[in-house]
Amino acid sequence: MFEAHAIDSANKPEFYRELESQLSGLLTGERDTIANAANTSALLFQMMPDLNWAGFYFLRATEELVLGPFQGRVACVRIPKGKGVCGAAVQRRAPVLVEDVHAFPGHIACDSASRSELVVPLMANGRVLGVIDLDSPSPSRFDADDQSGIERIAAIFLAASDI
Ligand code: SME
Repeated sequence: MFEAHAIDSANKPEFYRELESQLSGLLTGERDTIANAANTSALLFQMMPDLNWAGFYFLRATEELVLGPFQGRVACVRIPKGKGVCGAAVQRRAPVLVEDVHAFPGHIACDSASRSELVVPLMANGRVLGVIDLDSPSPSRFDADDQSGIERIAAIFLAASDI
């Protein structure tokens, strides 16, 4: 049985190296996208300090993001491309790091406790397939180390899944 081990979060590069290794182990032997997204969001929520939401949205043919597996409070189900932080990441085809969600025009508040947010697109063969979304109740919770760490987490999830 897989067991998540506590990671020292003071050293972020080291934290993400360990998190990547734990995620690779967790997803080994399973290629189902929903199962892998569910366990990826559970691992992120369990291991990353100071989060109130961690999960996936997947891009559907309608150019809309639709809620996927997540941990945290119930969330908005559909987000049009270009709307909110998640829709902006899809449109820009790039991560969006928001230090203060109240200052981001069009931010969609699923949980009023959220103060900062990091959204990383899931990209394969030049196409956006969805996003990983992380919310924190603390302003400026995420930095460039978190962004590059979650980009590598997204790559591990994509490589491990039949998405
Ligand atoms: N805040 C997001 C919406 C999703 S929730 O945070 C889970 C946004 O502005 O796109």
